[in-house]
Amino acid sequence: MVSDFIRKKISKYFTGQDEIVFCDNIPSYGMLTEKFSNIDELGLYLHIPFCDRICPYCPYNKEVYNENKAWNYVDALKKEIESYAYIIGNKPVTSFYIGGGTPTTMLKTGINEIINHIYKHFKMDCNIHMESHPNHLTTENLNILEAIGVKHLSVGVESLQDNHLKILERPYTVIEAKKSIERAVGRNFECINIDYIFDLPGQTPSEIEQAGNDIVKLGVDQVATYPLFRFPYTKLGKKFDEKRNAVNTMFRRRKFLKIIEDILYDSNYTRSSVWAFTKKGVDKYCSVTVPIYLGLGASGSSYLKDIFYVNTFSVSEYINAINQGKSPIALSIDLSEEMQMAGWLYWRIYETKFKKSDFQNRFKSSFDDKYGKQMKMLNRMGYLKNGEDQIKLSDKGTYWIHAFEDYFSINYINKLWGNSKSMAWPEKIIL
Ligand SMILES: C[S@@+](CC[C@H](N)C(=O)[O-])C[C@H]1O[C@@H](n2cnc3c(N)ncnc32)[C@H](O)[C@@H]1O
Ligand code: SF4
Repeated sequence: MVSDFIRKKISKYFTGQDEIVFCDNIPSYGMLTEKFSNIDELGLYLHIPFCDRICPYCPYNKEVYNENKAWNYVDALKKEIESYAYIIGNKPVTSFYIGGGTPTTMLKTGINEIINHIYKHFKMDCNIHMESHPNHLTTENLNILEAIGVKHLSVGVESLQDNHLKILERPYTVIEAKKSIERAVGRNFECINIDYIFDLPGQTPSEIEQAGNDIVKLGVDQVATYPLFRFPYTKLGKKFDEKRNAVNTMFRRRKFLKIIEDILYDSNYTRSSVWAFTKKGVDKYCSVTVPIYLGLGASGSSYLKDIFYVNTFSVSEYINAINQGKSPIALSIDLSEEMQMAGWLYWRIYETKFKKSDFQNRFKSSFDDKYGKQMKMLNRMGYLKNGEDQIKLSDKGTYWIHAFEDYFSINYINKLWGNSKSMAWPEKIIL
């Protein structure tokens, strides 16, 4: 209860709002056209909500793959793409991310049709970034990925120890996962990223060290390494809903992350976000931080300066709505300038370095007037370097400032995603 009170106070301090309210107020076609007319460029996110099987820890919107449903999803997506063709017009799409679920479940069920449709209707000015599952990276599938134009490929490896793969219920062994990565690294992709989860139940520092060294040997371009988040609405979240000491957890994660950090820094990787490390000279694999974006598909979410909206999470309802000529958007929220600024700062901190002049360009007001005091204090604490224009977080600052942000934002994600998963068309979600 005390922590809820503190969370609300912090949220109010940064956003100026007592409550953050999402409601079923669906933006009209005309309103979206007007909002898109005020932007210069956008990122595109395409959600593929299918997986071969469901992992017990996974918070994302997905269901077990079904071929018929996948084809119906392709048809619906094409219609959603067409509905945005006029709205977006000639604005360049400067990043394209296909996530899920597992996008590689649809390599033979129409993913090429969806991509072609996107390239036909939007002004695409970027490469394709796509998530994949280790079990799908056969030579045949890697050929398809290259043929459809994927240049940045992420592989959900999760662990490099068989005992932990078992706990996570991942359907492969370390040897098989390594073979998949080696096959992908041996191709001509511009960036191979692997996802690695740490702070697993019972995991020891020496296991993390061994995995870190293995990752370096595999020669991947980037590592995205997250602690295991226990979302209360997942199977694992329910099982591990022990009264964990949040402060202990934060310090343990810091210790584990430092082990990985040190190994990667010694091997020519630099930090590219709170949780990602990229080899020097490689174009990073990532798009969660794109400032303005359109999300397509079930649970696709879109952010256009002063509005954030989310499609229904239900794949069947998404398909039905589109086939009936209705909007798949389930929830939206209008964002005050204060909220937009807080959101901007959140994602820039996630990226670990940013320019004050970008804030000035975006909001036509001075970064120092708005956040100067807080930055000076963090500078004194050694959490960041507050330069004339550039702000760069230290490793200590990166971890602790983000942990602080997470402390109140994770509850919001739990509530928004948890409710959206259980109700296809919620009337209102109050965070
Ligand atoms: C959509 S999945 C990646 C592609 C594919 N579905 C797979 O699992 O191999 C995205 C990534 O999020 C991460 N992830 C999922 N649930 C997580 C959790 N509870 N805590 C931390 N990371 C998580 C995993 O590293 C996972 O690879
Ligand atoms: S972790 Fe990946 S494969 Fe597992 S359920 Fe989530 S999206 Fe699907």
